[in-house]
Amino acid sequence: MSVNNIINIKTKSSEVFVGDEVFNVLNEYLRPYRNCKIFILVDENTLQHCLTELITQNKTLHNAEILEIDSGEENKTLDVCYQLWKTLAEYKADRNALLINLGGGVITDMGGFIASTYKRGIDFINIPTTLLSQIDASVGGKTGVDFEGLKNIIGVFNEAKGVFVYPNFLKTLDKRQMLSGYAEALKHALIKDVSYWKELKKGMLSDTVSWTNLITRSVNIKNDIVLNDPLEKGERKLLNFGHTIGHAIESYSLENDKRPLCHGEAIAIGMVCESYISNMINDLTALELENITSTIMSFYTPYKLDESNYHAYIELMKNDKKNETAEINFTLLSKIGKADFNQEIGVDLILESLSYYNSLKDK
Ligand SMILES: NC(=O)c1ccc[n+]([C@@H]2O[C@H](COP(=O)([O-])OP(=O)(O)OC[C@H]3O[C@@H](n4cnc5c(N)ncnc54)[C@H](O)[C@@H]3O)[C@@H](O)[C@H]2O)c1
Ligand SMILES: [Zn+2]
Repeated sequence: MSVNNIINIKTKSSEVFVGDEVFNVLNEYLRPYRNCKIFILVDENTLQHCLTELITQNKTLHNAEILEIDSGEENKTLDVCYQLWKTLAEYKADRNALLINLGGGVITDMGGFIASTYKRGIDFINIPTTLLSQIDASVGGKTGVDFEGLKNIIGVFNEAKGVFVYPNFLKTLDKRQMLSGYAEALKHALIKDVSYWKELKKGMLSDTVSWTNLITRSVNIKNDIVLNDPLEKGERKLLNFGHTIGHAIESYSLENDKRPLCHGEAIAIGMVCESYISNMINDLTALELENITSTIMSFYTPYKLDESNYHAYIELMKNDKKNETAEINFTLLSKIGKADFNQEIGVDLILESLSYYNSLKDK
């Protein structure tokens, strides 16, 4: 639904608003919190690029306390949560307090977790500022942090009271981060919508791209899936396409690379590998595999998956929270726009898919 250029998407227990005028709605949302303590969680980049605009447009926030953390996935940890819980306690935040998460997926994941656990849960609102968080991370109620080198292993399901997507925040995001977010859009298209895939293939910098349109399409795909299966018992696993292998590569890179991969960059590699597996044991045709790999390889800088790391990748996959048994669990494509979850795959085929990715890089 769209009123006054604001698109409104109903989620399970909340709402997502998208558009250049979302802050008008936010002002209404903040009314009940006028006499409550309000905290805004930022990192140094959203402090610099997004906070002033947010506060200028929302009077209720003039007296908000700003909680700043260092940017980056390496800070999505329990140690940082500890500091933030401590700060909330020092400010004597009570159960009526509100936390506004202003940032990318690191801020919305961790802020959601802090709010969900502090005093058994205070309200939080997400204002995502990266493409990745606007189209994916801020929606759907998954909150959490990384732990002992494993991605998102500590967390809870809990929806934000509202998600306010202001596409103009993307103006200060660099190309690398835009591409990282684009990977999740490609994922949405691959698992659910072939016509969306055809549009995304043209490239994100093409004149035809409207950010509001892209955000809305992706959020709708994700939200429809989450509505059917909020706690990931079944259908929601579709959203893990590219993530079984992608998360392992991301975690390894985070611990070992001087310049670690971004989440979406790792997921792009994961999608190539998992498309290869989809071609080998599911119904994805060779032509479709070529369509997917050539598109992804044209967007993302090739990355070397060192054979000496293969064992570590597999160990990380075995530890992944998506696995219900000792087997490694995948979501695989049956064609572009359709996927199947709960596909158990043996180690040999996974290793083959990593080598397949490496072979593309050399072409
Ligand atoms: N909860 C979910 O359902 C879900 C889904 C997908 C991804 N995730 C998580 O999201 C995280 C990745 O999110 P991300 O890619 O947004 O990373 P991020 O939060 O680290 O943001 C990327 C970088 O962009 C900067 N930034 C943010 N907004 C900016 C702006 N407007 N202008 C300039 N710079 C800006 C940040 O400071 C950071 O340096 C991962 O931890 C991933 O696990 C969660
Ligand atoms: Zn993801």
